[in-house]
Amino acid sequence: MYEDEIEKTLISQEEIAEKTRELAEQIGADYEGKEVLLVGVLKGAVMFMSDIARALPVPVHLEFMAVSSYGSSTSSSGVVRILKDLDKDITGRHVLVVEDIIDSGLTLSWLLKNLGARNPASVEVVTLLRKPDAIKVPVDVKYVGFDIPNEFVVGYGLDYAERYRDMPYVGTLKPEVYS
Ligand code: PRP
Ligand code: MN
Ligand code: MG
Repeated sequence: MYEDEIEKTLISQEEIAEKTRELAEQIGADYEGKEVLLVGVLKGAVMFMSDIARALPVPVHLEFMAVSSYGSSTSSSGVVRILKDLDKDITGRHVLVVEDIIDSGLTLSWLLKNLGARNPASVEVVTLLRKPDAIKVPVDVKYVGFDIPNEFVVGYGLDYAERYRDMPYVGTLKPEVYS
C-alpha cells in the first residue's frame, strides 16, 4: 500500500509482536496482584496500546489523553497542547503511560509532571520506541521496546501529516515524501 513511499523497514511486524510479548511479561511480573491503569497518548500510541493491553497478564483499565507537540512538522516544536484530558480520577491508581515513541522527551516530561500532580499510587512509562540521540529533556522510562537512530519514522501509529499510522510495521520515509 505505502511501499512506494517507504525507504526501508526499521522494525518488522514480527519484531514488534515479539517485543510486545517480552515487555508484557516483564510488566506483568512487576505488577503482579495489582490492577494497572493504562494511559495511552493519542493518537500515536493506539496500536501499541491495543497490543500491549491484550498481551498483559494483569487486569488493566484503558484511559486516553491527547496531547500534541508536532503538528505536521517532522521535528518537535516543544509546544505541548492538551487536546483531550483523562475521563477519570487517577488518585491511588497504578498508572502506566503508553507511548509509541520518545523523541525529544518534551511530551512525556510534561505529561509525567501533569499526571504526578494527581496523586496516583505510581506512574511508570512503557514506550515502543525511543531515540536516544534526540533527547532534550531527560525522562525516566522504565520499559523501552527499541532504541532507534535519530531518523524520522512512520507506521504502527506513527504519522507524517496523519498518514501511515495504519502501516503494521515501522519504517523510514523516502526523503522526497517530506521535501
Ligand atoms: C509524537 C509521538 C509522541 C511524541 C514524541 O506525537 O507520538 O507522542 O510526538 O515526541 P517528543 O518526545 O519530542 O515530545 P505527536 O505530537 O506527533 O502526536 P500524535 O501522537 O497524534 O501523532
Ligand atoms: Mn504522540
Ligand atoms: Mg504525530
